[in-house]
Amino acid sequence: MLNPFSKLSNIGFLKHKSDSFLGLDIGSSSIKVVQLKKKNGVVILETYGELSLGPYANIEAGRATNLSSAQLSEAITNLLKEANVTTKECGVSIPLKSSLVFNIQLPTMDKKQLEQMIPIEARKYIPVPISEVDLDWKVIPKEEMAVTSFMGEENSNKREEVPKTEVLVAAIHRDTVLKQKEIVSGAGLSLNFLEIEIFSTIRTAVSHNILNFAVLDMGSGSTKLYIIEKGMIKDSHSISRGSQDITLNIARATGISATDAEQQKIKVGVSGNTPTEKEVSDIVYSSMEYIFGEVNKTFLAYQKKYNKNVDKLVITGGGSIINGMTEFAKSHTEVEVEISDPFSKVEAPAFLAPLLKQVGPGFAVALGLALRGLQQME
Ligand SMILES: Nc1ncnc2c1ncn2[C@@H]1O[C@H](COP(=O)(O)OP(=O)(O)OP(=O)(O)O)[C@@H](O)[C@H]1O
Ligand SMILES: [Mg+2]
Repeated sequence: MLNPFSKLSNIGFLKHKSDSFLGLDIGSSSIKVVQLKKKNGVVILETYGELSLGPYANIEAGRATNLSSAQLSEAITNLLKEANVTTKECGVSIPLKSSLVFNIQLPTMDKKQLEQMIPIEARKYIPVPISEVDLDWKVIPKEEMAVTSFMGEENSNKREEVPKTEVLVAAIHRDTVLKQKEIVSGAGLSLNFLEIEIFSTIRTAVSHNILNFAVLDMGSGSTKLYIIEKGMIKDSHSISRGSQDITLNIARATGISATDAEQQKIKVGVSGNTPTEKEVSDIVYSSMEYIFGEVNKTFLAYQKKYNKNVDKLVITGGGSIINGMTEFAKSHTEVEVEISDPFSKVEAPAFLAPLLKQVGPGFAVALGLALRGLQQME
């Protein structure tokens, strides 16, 4: 998938000493790394690993944390060692919550005028002074516009005759960019680019050749939903409920420790059999029902606004790795469902295949970053 935010991302140099590349996903509950290498046109998985951040914040594994740059650098250093990472060249994620991605419509004008107009228009969407953010944008291709500009007028009585240009805009707070750079250099790595996590995830999910699909990233602190049309983000939402809320609800309701509740959540998931398991799975079930309620509401709003359906829902994020997830998802949305399998994009030893398929959803961001790094090295 084309990354529209080249300006934000091209930090550092692309002259590699190594032909391997590392994707580094600094999530709120854990850090994930994936190291890839390209050999004779084939992308090979060299190593991957995950480290829970909970213990660095004196809380249980699986919980969302808010650590300092120094603590995160230390955690990354440990993970690099543990996972036998051999390259320093990396691409790093920016969390959706630290960025704003939105579409704006402007009358069609030349590139120079657009460059002046976009920051003025974008100001309306950005809750902090525009001087505090790094802004980047990409004009949405014209054939898309023919549909979107018309549909965007659904609440207006007058049909616009003025040709319009639709622009995808991303804003990242400068402090976030500075913090990510600080973390990475503190871990002794060389930062090639930063990328908002949505774009990394989508890169691992685009082989479908499907016009409109959605990605649901079930993280620890929150769940994110993106709708993608022809490789461009049309809509992004953050649902303020994540996998850690389920763990905490289980602990609260059953009286077991958060550590045990975390294990139960994964093992029992949404399909408990015994009465004890049922107590757990009922909690997981109702939390998932809430999330899928939000997903379906978003799909309905999209359908109403653009008169189009979402063709497929791709589910990612560590929070989706629970027992019974596939069946649950299939019975809770009308849309075709697929649990993401990002490692299927790369070559790996056959004996690892079942494990990679199982843990894969948690590594979509890290893998997407590494894939982009390899593409840029070509
Ligand atoms: N291998 C696994 N099996 C089962 N559950 C897992 C696994 N790895 C992570 N989880 C669960 O998923 C949650 C974390 O998911 P993920 O790693 O995608 O979050 P994150 O990227 O750290 O968070 P965020 O994206 O919100 O910043 C944890 O709460 C944990 O319970
Ligand atoms: Mg994440």
